[in-house]
Amino acid sequence: MSPPSPRLSHITILLWVHPFGVAPLPDCWKQFQIHGCTITDDKHAYRQADAVIIHHRDVVKGRARLPPEPRPRSQKWIWLNHESPTYSPGLQKYDRVFNLTLSYRVDSDIYVPYGHLIPVGNSSGSLDQTTSLRRPSRLLAWVVSHWSASHARVSFYNELKRYVNIDVYGRAGKPLKKGREAVQEMLRDYMFYLAMENSQHTDYITEKLWNAVRAGAIPVVLGPSRQNYERLLPPEAFIHVDDFPTVEELAQYLNKVKQNPDLMKHHLSWRQNYSVHQMTHDEKFCQACEVVRRTRGQTSEVPHLKDWFCS
Ligand SMILES: *[C@@H]1O[C@H](CO)[C@@H](O)[C@H](O)[C@H]1NC(C)=O
Ligand SMILES: *[C@@H]1O[C@H](CO)[C@@H](O)[C@H](O)[C@H]1NC(C)=O
Ligand SMILES: *[C@@H]1O[C@H](CO)[C@@H](O)[C@H](O)[C@H]1NC(C)=O
Repeated sequence: MSPPSPRLSHITILLWVHPFGVAPLPDCWKQFQIHGCTITDDKHAYRQADAVIIHHRDVVKGRARLPPEPRPRSQKWIWLNHESPTYSPGLQKYDRVFNLTLSYRVDSDIYVPYGHLIPVGNSSGSLDQTTSLRRPSRLLAWVVSHWSASHARVSFYNELKRYVNIDVYGRAGKPLKKGREAVQEMLRDYMFYLAMENSQHTDYITEKLWNAVRAGAIPVVLGPSRQNYERLLPPEAFIHVDDFPTVEELAQYLNKVKQNPDLMKHHLSWRQNYSVHQMTHDEKFCQACEVVRRTRGQTSEVPHLKDWFCS
């Protein structure tokens, strides 16, 4: 494949500060077949850039770290954030500053979920390949690095462990190597995984869920509502803590599934028809390019950042 004609409008996106630590810049064409797109970190490109990506974490303390005003007239400032509202201080400072949003929220201008399913029919790439390799001998695992008694997940854990064995990994439990491969490897021994978010917000469903799905452990989720999870997964693909009136009944259900191959199958057979995609940061930047191209020549603004993001 060769890059398409240069006559197609070219887009330059400036990473104002590298959002996730300095890393090589992506080649959107080679890596993702997204044409006419340059991602740069060279601040000299500011005047020419069609858009600038600004990571919320870099501007929580105030506007001093924003690019200089007045900005080029047709330039779009893109607000990037992967944290939940609970862990995103300073949002109130940014009404009418940004033009586009890039986050895990479905209603972002540039929607970049932590993961999503791709229908594959029965093709060889389906998740089912992992299912058939599994011989889980243990019931339930939880990985937690940030333990806080104020988290809903900690009180939930404290109650659930009265009824079932939970193996805890991470900073608050058994040691585990960094990275999602280590988590997914460990999860192959487990039937269920507690995919519990640090805070409960619309669409805030992180890699905790996708690690379980990848590994073939049935996720037991605590996060936004069941309905919200169903935007991303078939209803039987996860067990929601709200599905049961009491924690004890949830525990009984987990034991029941463990002893009942048909129930197990009920929760896993959807995997025949899907694979999972987890976008890299590079891919997210290149996705931004596509949206900037599509909205070129139009103005847009994010009038009430906090009200929107916290809703
Ligand atoms: C998909 O796979 C299942 C189980 O392996 C099989 O029963 C079914 O016939 C297949 N469906 C198609 C459309 O290939
Ligand atoms: C997978 O997709 C095929 C073809 O659409 C369908 O016949 C089958 O019922 C699906 N399997 C599951 C478990 O949903
Ligand atoms: C971007 O947003 C700012 C602040 O709301 C606004 O003044 C500017 O006109 C917008 N620019 C574009 C190109 O949409």
